[in-house]
Amino acid sequence: MEKPRPASPAPIRAVLFDAYGTLFDVYSVALLAEQLFPGQGQALSVLWRDKQIEYTRLVTTSNGGAHYQPFWELTRAGLRYACKRLGLILTAEREEKLMNQYRHLSAFPEAREVLQALKDRGIVTGILSNGDPAMLAAAVRSAGLQGLLDPVISVDGIRKYKTDPAAYALGPQATGLEARQIAFVSCNSWDALAATWYGYQTLWVNRYQLPFEELGTQPDDTGSSLRDVLGLPGLGTPA
Ligand code: LAC
Repeated sequence: MEKPRPASPAPIRAVLFDAYGTLFDVYSVALLAEQLFPGQGQALSVLWRDKQIEYTRLVTTSNGGAHYQPFWELTRAGLRYACKRLGLILTAEREEKLMNQYRHLSAFPEAREVLQALKDRGIVTGILSNGDPAMLAAAVRSAGLQGLLDPVISVDGIRKYKTDPAAYALGPQATGLEARQIAFVSCNSWDALAATWYGYQTLWVNRYQLPFEELGTQPDDTGSSLRDVLGLPGLGTPA
């Protein structure tokens, strides 16, 4: 049964963002994939992403985490698998180009103003991501968002990926807040779903008009860009 939405949500004190596909736009990777493999860029990007996420689940749920590898390595493994599966020749040079592009992503255009507006309202703004610390630091730097995101929380320290509850628990631990006082924002429906299950106030940013997961729980809010964060009821009205 779907839990009824509270009449007035807890005041939001922090907003934590998923990283890849939520703050950072992976479109440039798809573009490069298309340049390197004409006609296959779209299929490669989708399969690469799916495999990357599947691998996070495999290593988190198998053998007590004995097979954990940092997200950067799982990203590389996902790329290799996707190319093999599609019959694409991934030379060392192409692999480095694609991985390098993944390291240097842009933020979505509205990210900066949204983060700044939240900070102006005294709200803590951070990241809670599967990415390892080096990847996340590089992404924040190349997107020019230094100073606007603190804490940048990586699951790498606990060697368990989202959707393990221990990964979502890092948000309350890092901020000293309860999950209901934190808005968790993700473009990934599975991530928004699991964060809702964990107890965050959630915003699913549905940029690409996709259906939500069919598991009986809905995110607290749904939007179409990061700007919708600023309209979350738990933020109240700007002073
Ligand atoms: C992350 C991936 C799931 O940043 O997008 O955690």
